Amino acid sequence: MLERTLSIIKPDACRAGHMGEIISRFEREGLRIVAMRLLRLTRPQAEGFYAVHRERPFFADLVEFMTSGPVVVMVLEGENAIERNRRIMGATDPAQAAEGTLRKLFASNIQNNAVHGSDGPDTARTEVAYFFSTLDQVDWD
Ligand code: CMP
Repeated sequence: MLERTLSIIKPDACRAGHMGEIISRFEREGLRIVAMRLLRLTRPQAEGFYAVHRERPFFADLVEFMTSGPVVVMVLEGENAIERNRRIMGATDPAQAAEGTLRKLFASNIQNNAVHGSDGPDTARTEVAYFFSTLDQVDWD
């Protein structure tokens, strides 16, 4: 099924100069970028994006981290894009992530974990709409 998913290159990976490598990996894996923006999240924007985690003990630190520098937000498109992106990223905790995954390569710890990707079709729809209107998303064909 042709899907769209939201990808974020987090502040740690942007600051370390890995934006290009990460974007290039998505391109090599055949995921098409249909929207992309570099921005610095405000506190309310980060809190809103991670609202489902509001009750978690790590929420305040997560918001602090996500607002600590620029991020790249992207919409990736492809067959089974949601699951493929999750495989490319690897496990949330880099200590558990498989060799060659983005988090194994670029993440420092479970919080500063380089990239975010939507975890399912409903989340993907909500997360894509959080940053992009349909007009922002290009048709390559
Ligand atoms: P992400 O995939 O963006 O979804 C929620 C984020 O919360 C996650 O990546 C991490 O950045 C962070 N996170 C998840 N679990 C923990 C944890 N146990 N401790 C600290 N941060 C976490």
